Amino acid sequence: MNNFFRMGKNELLEQKEALNLKYKEFQKLGLKLNMSRGVPSTEQINLSAKMLDCINSKSDCTDENGKDCRNYGGAYGIPEARRLLAQMMNVNEENVIAGGNSSLQMMFDAVSMFMTHGASGCPPWIKQGKIKFLCPAPGYDRHFKISEYFGMELITVNMTENGPDMDMVENLVNSDPSVKGIWCVPKYSNPQGIVYSDETVKRLASLQPRAKDFRIFWDNAYSVHDLSATPIEILNIMDECVKIHNENLPIMFCSLSKITLAGAAIAGMACSGDNLRDFKLRYSIQSVGPDKVNQLRHVRFLNDIEGIRNHMKKHRKILEPKFSLVINKLKENFSDNPVIKWQNPKGGYFVSVDLLDGCAKRTVELCKNAGVILTDAGATYPYGVDPKDSNIRIAPSFPDLKELSLAMDIFCVSVKLSCLEKLL
Ligand SMILES: Cc1ncc(COP(=O)(O)O)c(C=O)c1O
Repeated sequence: MNNFFRMGKNELLEQKEALNLKYKEFQKLGLKLNMSRGVPSTEQINLSAKMLDCINSKSDCTDENGKDCRNYGGAYGIPEARRLLAQMMNVNEENVIAGGNSSLQMMFDAVSMFMTHGASGCPPWIKQGKIKFLCPAPGYDRHFKISEYFGMELITVNMTENGPDMDMVENLVNSDPSVKGIWCVPKYSNPQGIVYSDETVKRLASLQPRAKDFRIFWDNAYSVHDLSATPIEILNIMDECVKIHNENLPIMFCSLSKITLAGAAIAGMACSGDNLRDFKLRYSIQSVGPDKVNQLRHVRFLNDIEGIRNHMKKHRKILEPKFSLVINKLKENFSDNPVIKWQNPKGGYFVSVDLLDGCAKRTVELCKNAGVILTDAGATYPYGVDPKDSNIRIAPSFPDLKELSLAMDIFCVSVKLSCLEKLL
């Protein structure tokens, strides 16, 4: 019987003493492990090692239109890269821009464009007074940071098992003209691994924003990152929007960072013709073109969406045992001790846990003092403040299984200790 809520004070004190001893033993190991971000392991990166051989000094470096990729030009990316990204996002290739190595940078730039130049013929966001962005939380800290950087007011929207709380989203978006955007990670959300239901996608596509210049930032970063053999498909937001003439709402993003080489991959965005006109102008001014050699390298290595899916099976083989290990450790330690709840994701890069209120920060601190660095508690909420101080994001991808096992043992002891401190 491990349920802290059924123990008397003396029993809780005994537990704490025993756990303290265990914790001190872990500290003596001198572990140094950074699990703060969803970084692919070296083994995963090595899956794409051969991609670097796809182009060498003897290679033909022309794209399918015969343009030399080693030279300036092609502000929107080479046609075959735009096609590959279009297949990933399930949109027409004419609606895609193939960019550089970071989708996050494209998102930042998109927000920046709306801030200074506006959307749909409306004044720039920055000239409209205080503007608000909806932040489904727990969510991706770097999205929230972009909104914060531009001085927006961040509005927390609760996540449900089907995606953001759509009653709240509809109420805010359809009534408040200062609400200009929402961050969405529709498949295997960061950090909870939640997949938006068809109803959620349809309701998002059917929003009737009070602000004509409201946009949905659709970051499908984990579209092919399945952990099970049966991939989950979500509805295509653009198709749903087109059906009801709302095609200007979504700005879609995708990334190959966690497919090939994180930091040296390619990213893409897609949107309606109206939006694309603004983005094309911007892209043609801000750069003489992306790294087309890298785009060519990616297309030669992956070929098409089938190539990507096959490649992702290799990632799954490496990642799935790590996620299973995390879930099994949580089950072993807490199946009869309700101080922690967790999600069992079917894809993505994280396991999200919710502890007894007020215990997340302390748990992260205890882990750190025993050599395991986790994402800061609170990072998954706007302004880095989790109102309940309960959510922690575990990123199992980088360590090997042995290290991960030890890190999880330290994590579980730290959770128990912080909860005992709270209860006593
Ligand atoms: C939801 C989400 N979007 C974007 C990124 C970053 O993508 P990129 O490497 O293309 O900038 C991450 C990385 O963890 C992520 O979790």
